[in-house]
Amino acid sequence: MIERWDRVVRLTHWCVALGFLANRLHLTEPGGVWHRSVGLLVAVLVIVRLVWGVTGARGPARLSAIIPTRASLAEHFCDIAERRTPKALGHNPLGAMAIWLFWLLLPLVALTGWAQGTDLIDRWPVEVWHYWLVNAVTALVCLHVLAVVTMSLWLKKNLIAAMLPGRR
Ligand code: HEM
Ligand code: HEM
Repeated sequence: MIERWDRVVRLTHWCVALGFLANRLHLTEPGGVWHRSVGLLVAVLVIVRLVWGVTGARGPARLSAIIPTRASLAEHFCDIAERRTPKALGHNPLGAMAIWLFWLLLPLVALTGWAQGTDLIDRWPVEVWHYWLVNAVTALVCLHVLAVVTMSLWLKKNLIAAMLPGRR
């Protein structure tokens, strides 16, 4: 049976992914009430996930387990070269770097969106930052999905299934 990520990880992951895509693909009107609410919800869910990673999560979902080191990166490259599948569930160190980048950039996207409704706009071109931050996250999402699919095929281990609903 597949070992799955816990409920909070799975729920926050898919809500963040759907919320980001809804705003990115203009399914919500840019700057409209749905756009702002969905964007802020995405940021709140990232914070919920981070708090969960410190207070409630166990094992590989704890933030302390998602810290890449030089040694873990070196080991990961050996694993890839020898096509060795890690037995336990856990983000690999390259994935972990992308994940921290998501957790940094998504709240910044929301912050620069929110700041457009304030007089900060006179001092900083926050709408330009919003635009470029959204583009940066979009590029990261493409890389992320490509990496997940490639690693699933290369290691013959369905990483996506561990993010889907169901019992472990
Ligand atoms: C569209 C926006 C997306 C964003 C912003 C995003 C972001 C993230 C983040 C932050 C994590 C870490 C999860 C955690 O520990 O809480 C993660 C993991 C993961 N995501 Fe996504 N994701 C997106 C889309 C997708 C899609 C479309 C797929 C399916 C192809 C996917 C598959 C996965 C998988 C399998 C993991 C676990 C990776 C592992 O085994 O280490 N994600 N993603
Ligand atoms: C998941 C988070 C978000 C994504 C992916 C996103 C995406 C986008 C995109 C693609 C645009 C159009 C940019 C352009 O073509 O110039 C836009 C514009 C905008 N967004 Fe966001 N956004 C997010 C969050 C937010 C939040 C939280 C707010 C406010 C609280 C916000 C407020 C705005 C405003 C005011 C505009 C300008 C609309 C206009 O030009 O009239 N966004 N956003």
